[in-house]
Amino acid sequence: MEQTETASDVEKLLSGLGRFPEAWARPFLIVVSGLPGTGKSYFCHCLAQRLAAVILESDHLRRTLFLAPGYSSAESARLFRASHLLIERLLRQGLPVIFDATNLSQHYREKLYRIAERFGVKLVLVRVEAPPELVYQRLKERQTDPGTNSEADWSVYQRMKPQLEQIRRRHYAVDTSQDITPVIDKVIREVSR
Ligand SMILES: Nc1ncnc2c1ncn2[C@@H]1O[C@H](COP(=O)(O)OP(=O)(O)O)[C@@H](O)[C@H]1O
Ligand SMILES: [Mg+2]
Repeated sequence: MEQTETASDVEKLLSGLGRFPEAWARPFLIVVSGLPGTGKSYFCHCLAQRLAAVILESDHLRRTLFLAPGYSSAESARLFRASHLLIERLLRQGLPVIFDATNLSQHYREKLYRIAERFGVKLVLVRVEAPPELVYQRLKERQTDPGTNSEADWSVYQRMKPQLEQIRRRHYAVDTSQDITPVIDKVIREVSR
């Protein structure tokens, strides 16, 4: 039951994606992580303007699968199962991927590390942060932004905060209350090497 559900989830997610960029001989996987409102999607959007990759934004994927997202752990587990299979599918086709999700738990990140290893692709990790006062303000303003895919508000931020587990691997950290360009430059340099 779970397997057929996942397979049809993956197909649904795949058909909701836009045009694909060109395939690479050795694609890469960029994994962004951080609490809601820290600026992950903004960062990924800026990055993708300079680097043709498929952005998998978990909030967009969540809306594709769930009409009324509740951000429960069962919902997230199903979403991540399908997302991980989708990432594998894209990498197999040589498509570089930017995975824009909270990725707070070590458990879920480990799965991504293993995917990158299995496919022999470069893995770049980015931890996105911002001061809580700024996040509070941003989330309040985002609620009226028709362009956002996220329904996560300050209460979701607070609920998720204790779930944040430190990244134990080498990664880039970006504080989005500052200029994000230097980190974008570094990430591009790393995947282009
Ligand atoms: N570096 C930044 N400079 C200016 N505004 C930003 C920046 N990062 C995020 N924002 C704004 O803050 C809000 C939350 O950012 P978003 O990228 O949606 O966060 P997340 O994807 O982590 O939940 C959005 O309205 C976004 O436009
Ligand atoms: Mg987002």
